[in-house]
Amino acid sequence: MIDTRVSVVTGAASGIGRATAKRLAMGGDLVVVADINEQSGQAVVAEIRKTGGKAEFYLVDVADEASVENLAGAVEKTLGPAGVLVNSAGVLQNVATLESLSLEEHDKVWAINYRGVYLCCRAFAPRMARYRSGSIVNISSTSAVAAMPLLAYAPAKSAIQNLTAILAAELGPNNVRVNAVMPGYVLTEQMQARIDAGKRDPQSMKNQSALGRMVAPEDVANGIHFLCSDAASCITGIVLPIDAGYLGTVTYINHPGMGGIHPGRTSSATIK
Ligand SMILES: NC(=O)c1ccc[n+]([C@@H]2O[C@H](COP(=O)([O-])OP(=O)(O)OC[C@H]3O[C@@H](n4cnc5c(N)ncnc54)[C@H](O)[C@@H]3O)[C@@H](O)[C@H]2O)c1
Repeated sequence: MIDTRVSVVTGAASGIGRATAKRLAMGGDLVVVADINEQSGQAVVAEIRKTGGKAEFYLVDVADEASVENLAGAVEKTLGPAGVLVNSAGVLQNVATLESLSLEEHDKVWAINYRGVYLCCRAFAPRMARYRSGSIVNISSTSAVAAMPLLAYAPAKSAIQNLTAILAAELGPNNVRVNAVMPGYVLTEQMQARIDAGKRDPQSMKNQSALGRMVAPEDVANGIHFLCSDAASCITGIVLPIDAGYLGTVTYINHPGMGGIHPGRTSSATIK
């Protein structure tokens, strides 16, 4: 068994999960890079080790109960009790309406983005409770609280926030903290691919933020790192927005007297 804190990050092969795995490893944690994509996951492990960090890859399908239980059992047996669980495995969704969204796509998004998080909490939280120590961070989205044409994705993110509040109350007596981050538009590889495919307008995403920029995966990783740290030891049950000021600004600039453009900018074209 090892003394170092063991941090499990699902979805760590890419995007926010990858940045989080690297951030936690930089802070000295032994990071479990848990993902369904072995090739990319192993590449993240290699990146972390190259910079002197500690990481191991574990294959998992968060939508599969047995796979998640195997992960929790294998981590505990091989590396020791997990002190941190970051649930970052997820899929994005294309814009859809009630008529255009297939039930298959709806159910797939819920199976990974909600049920996957539930299964991971169910597998790891009792173990953390037994050791009376742990921190879980879930990934919500600003779509949880603002209407967006993401019929399966957004309601699943609202459910994540509710789950976070319930688990924080349930697990607090055993010194297990449960929080969530609520990212705005994050410029991950997947988001860039959607921009390149013409499915997201980068200018509009920047213009709708107070800071005039998209969120970097590292911005979200820094928030998660804080929530898992001793500096946040009295914080549980919260949802931390990391959105470059999107939530307030989108209503501010769309006020009927404002015309959709921030007065601090001459036009959206000024944003690089
Ligand atoms: N990118 C954004 O703008 C944004 C904004 C808000 C919230 N989020 C949320 O952040 C989380 C991470 O998203 P991202 O943008 O980094 O995505 P991403 O696609 O870059 O990474 C997701 C990772 O999850 C893995 N994964 C997918 N299905 C899996 C499964 N069944 N089992 C195990 N691993 C699986 C993928 O292989 C990938 O490595 C998601 O919950 C997403 O909803 C993203």
